[in-house]
Amino acid sequence: MAFELGEVLIAADAIERRVRTLAAAIDRDYSGGRLHLVAVLKGACFFAADLARAMRCDLSLEFVQASSYGAGAESSGQVAVSYGGELDIDGARVLLVDDIVDSGRTAGAMTAHLAQCGAESVRTAALLSKPDRRVLDVSIDYLGFEIPDRFVVGYGMDYAGRYRNLADIRTLRASGGSGNGVSPASEIIPTPYPPAYGPRR
Ligand code: PRP
Repeated sequence: MAFELGEVLIAADAIERRVRTLAAAIDRDYSGGRLHLVAVLKGACFFAADLARAMRCDLSLEFVQASSYGAGAESSGQVAVSYGGELDIDGARVLLVDDIVDSGRTAGAMTAHLAQCGAESVRTAALLSKPDRRVLDVSIDYLGFEIPDRFVVGYGMDYAGRYRNLADIRTLRASGGSGNGVSPASEIIPTPYPPAYGPRR
């Protein structure tokens, strides 16, 4: 089946406002000492860059690769973690940064991996969450938007390598379809923060 761009689900200005809100919340929670951001390539590249630039606390930023989808729209169920060099997070406070939590496998695998690497604490920041797709129960400490089960692209997210550079987050629909994959904006839930997604104490 061929796909084409659908409607704008979350506009660039709404993303920008939400990222600033998340950054301020993270800053408040990590005011003393360094925070190590570990962002998941490739989808989180823009979210991580914008989040880090909006933050004022002492931080480092690393990127890791965790691939689960391949070239299609369905997850393979496997998560492969890789990165260049060493991830020096022994005793560190770590914030996993991902663009979207779908099945939860990537966040789950990454959290376990970072804990194995000796992190003192691991929390998660995700711009999007699709709770309807969850296979693994993972907690998201800083969440941008909860969205319905639609395939989305833009702001780092792709379909077969395309559309990552879109400033807005948009749906993808079957070519020639009449609205497949399109969600009205009223379905998008800007998640309350705080306290609903505050960090675990
Ligand atoms: C996407 C996304 C998350 C993961 C979420 O990555 O960036 O890392 O899937 O899915 P999950 O909750 O079902 O594990 P993807 O594997 O598509 O790689 P990419 O970011 O390089 O496009």
